[in-house]
Amino acid sequence: EEGITVDELSQKIGQTPANVIKVLFMLGTMVTINSSLNDEQVELICMEYGLECKKVVPVSEVNFEDLEVVDDPKDLVPRPPVITIMGHVDHGKTTLLDHIRKSRVAEGEFGGITQHIGAYQVSVKGKKITFLDTPGHEAFTAMRARGAMITDIVIIVVAADDGVMPQTREAVDHALAANVPIIVAINKIDKPGADPQRIMTEVSELGLMPEEWGGDVPYVNISAKKGIGIDELLETVTVVAELAELKANPKRMAYGSVIEGRLDKGRGPVATLLIQNGTLRSGNPIVVGATYGRVRQLVDDRGREIKSAGPATPVEITGLNDVPEAGDKFMVFETEREARHVGEERAQKKIEEERNSTSAMSLDDLFSQM
Ligand code: GTP
Ligand code: MG
Repeated sequence: EEGITVDELSQKIGQTPANVIKVLFMLGTMVTINSSLNDEQVELICMEYGLECKKVVPVSEVNFEDLEVVDDPKDLVPRPPVITIMGHVDHGKTTLLDHIRKSRVAEGEFGGITQHIGAYQVSVKGKKITFLDTPGHEAFTAMRARGAMITDIVIIVVAADDGVMPQTREAVDHALAANVPIIVAINKIDKPGADPQRIMTEVSELGLMPEEWGGDVPYVNISAKKGIGIDELLETVTVVAELAELKANPKRMAYGSVIEGRLDKGRGPVATLLIQNGTLRSGNPIVVGATYGRVRQLVDDRGREIKSAGPATPVEITGLNDVPEAGDKFMVFETEREARHVGEERAQKKIEEERNSTSAMSLDDLFSQM
């Protein structure tokens, strides 16, 4: 969860960052201009200045829950686990995923950096596993946070020649906050000077006690590049997933999250979705974030057009009016009329939110001129 920083808050309330830092200091907390503040701290500062503070929930986080159907337990069937691969930049996340699905994403990527979260499904001994890749670059905190939220298990990749780095810590924090099982993959053990034992000690200090030291976190030594330890890692994933007894209801209308949205010159708005529950079919009326439409093309992770997809499956769809944002929620509706109604309402709400944040901005301008 990303809080507002001291700098951002002071701009919003028209105080200098030094004043905000002073208030918190007097209340016993040391912060810097770039520290992010939790809700309680924001509230304390607002109280200090006699302001009323209200947290604006972005439209992407508004749930469809008032419309949601509760599943009948007898409709629930086992579903594939969703695994997110996280870790510091260049520690080998994409190479690992790449090795797992035996294609070559890492080489094709611009500059070798994962720009977007990728989503793929693979079969391990006849059992499906869905993998999400996340970029390690520091600018992508929100993606890692979302990745942790929609996932069942997180694999933290740590390069044995580099050790715990800032995005390693941050990824672990997201995974712990999401309260999902964690598997640590110590990568690049093929490299001269790699010291997996030292890395294990470092990572364990983040609160991830290894199983072999009496804790509950599996650690696996791998080389994503040479293909060492991958089978053991997948085996571990399968064991952890089985313990979780994941179930979903393929009979219901689909809902889930947007992994990525983009505008394609020929196909129009394209969204990569992770179906979290239900079955998505081509032709379904759908609301995605603040946009809506009818699923025109449904494409699987290998680019094949399909008619329907079940729980825990990543798919690409076309047929939306606008490009949704990563992290937006989606939901299928009975009729196109309903989808349009809900979609337009949400679009309206989003416009209002944007207008509100603009007026807050001009208030800041006013303050800065005083
Ligand atoms: P971002 O997406 O930018 O965060 O990076 P990433 O974690 O996906 O790293 P990526 O898979 O792109 O790998 C970074 C570099 O490390 C590449 O040059 C890989 O070839 C190399 N690499 C990955 N795994 C291994 C490994 O096991 N051994 C060695 N020697 N090199 C590896
Ligand atoms: Mg990558």
